[in-house]
Amino acid sequence: MEIKNKFPNDFLWGASTSAFQVEGGFNEGRGVANSDMRYIPSGLADYKVASDHYHHLKEDVTLMKELGIKVYRFSFFWSRIMPDGENVSEEGLRFYHELIDALLESDIQPFPTLFHFEMPYALIEKFGGFKSRECVDAYEKYARICFKEFGHKVKIWATINEQMCATAPGDMNGNTEKDPYLQQKNLYQMSYHMSLAEKKAIAAFRDIIPDGKIGHVVAMQVIYPATSHPLDIQAAQNAQDQIQWSFLDFSIRGQYSSHFTTFLKKQNLYPIMELEDQQYFNNKPDFIGVNYYASCTVRAKKKDDDDSKMPPFYQSQQFMVVENKYIQTTEWMHFGVDSEGLYTGLREIYDRYQLPMIITENGMAYTDQVEKDGTIQDNYRIDYLKQHIEKCLQFVSEGYPLIGYCMWSFLDVVSSHEGFNKRYGLVYVDRTNDNPKSCKRIKKQSFYWYKDVIKNNGIEK
Ligand code: BG6
Repeated sequence: MEIKNKFPNDFLWGASTSAFQVEGGFNEGRGVANSDMRYIPSGLADYKVASDHYHHLKEDVTLMKELGIKVYRFSFFWSRIMPDGENVSEEGLRFYHELIDALLESDIQPFPTLFHFEMPYALIEKFGGFKSRECVDAYEKYARICFKEFGHKVKIWATINEQMCATAPGDMNGNTEKDPYLQQKNLYQMSYHMSLAEKKAIAAFRDIIPDGKIGHVVAMQVIYPATSHPLDIQAAQNAQDQIQWSFLDFSIRGQYSSHFTTFLKKQNLYPIMELEDQQYFNNKPDFIGVNYYASCTVRAKKKDDDDSKMPPFYQSQQFMVVENKYIQTTEWMHFGVDSEGLYTGLREIYDRYQLPMIITENGMAYTDQVEKDGTIQDNYRIDYLKQHIEKCLQFVSEGYPLIGYCMWSFLDVVSSHEGFNKRYGLVYVDRTNDNPKSCKRIKKQSFYWYKDVIKNNGIEK
């Protein structure tokens, strides 16, 4: 591969958000979503207002233009486009036309994800969301509607955000069984349905937007063995197989790895597939979107290990997640900050699939404080982004096809468990979990820093 020392001129500098985490606008024709049902009882910031992007659309796009991003990765609120999961809302479509047009007028490429954890609650009530095969058709129908409606304006798309998290047990996904075995059974069945839905959508995409590109978005798992003990090495391989390759292998190769197939069959977890599905298996994406926050370290599982406090996807009979003394953790980055992991992970993915890649999420959570003078000095975030962008440059320099970098997140969003106590944005949203206040936008120090990075097409030494 050719060695270069700078980002290509057409590198897609960008920023990301997701609909249910920023839009709000609940009373503006949006249907009830699975996310609304989860958060209302929890006492955290609910999604009725979120970051109120719905009412700040013009202002937010003006800020994006000032920042200079080339691409904006967002997601469509399925419940805004199809409030009851069946019928299309013209009002919902209009909102996205407005957003897309404002982006295009600002020379920013719209990059929507069709499914970012959110769907009409009606589909959960009716058939349990992706637990059911019916959801494959519901998703395909929704995808076709979006492709037809926006395909003449939007040329870069993503199918599903992070299957790993989107199938995890929890009320949001419809995987609500209490029994751990049934939870896992659901997880793999849901995951298969998502893969099939993705493949059917890609088949439709090829007909409807032949000049477009569509990608799969993975929660990249960079997994280190805790020691050089052969069983720890094996545990790390198994972990990667279970929480990364399983999703990517199916998406790109149309099949699970041999080890993973054996694991699923042995545990009686292999999903139900129909013979007719096979005709879709070779519809693979054009690129891989990579979400990366931190690496993770595992060892072989011992008999009385208790992993019940871990996020659901890190609970497994095949490995135990442990601390890594070489990696520094912070208040919100429990798995630590590991920019080397970004490089290691990208390299592994490319060498396995040889597809172009784009960073779809990478960012630093912090409880930001507004200073007396009204500024937000988030140097910790600048440090994090800098380290990771440098690793992207190393990767690109070695000739790998990394086509862009979308940091998470453009503005503060409702984070999944901590709401607005935990912030990722370049733009501060003035609200708390309890009080939506005015949601006034304030540019953080990192906004100005990233603006320079984009202007200089890299970090000035
Ligand atoms: C990713 C998701 O998994 O991580 C985002 O795609 C999410 O939607 C982000 O917000 C950060 O996670 P959290 O839990 O801090 O909000």
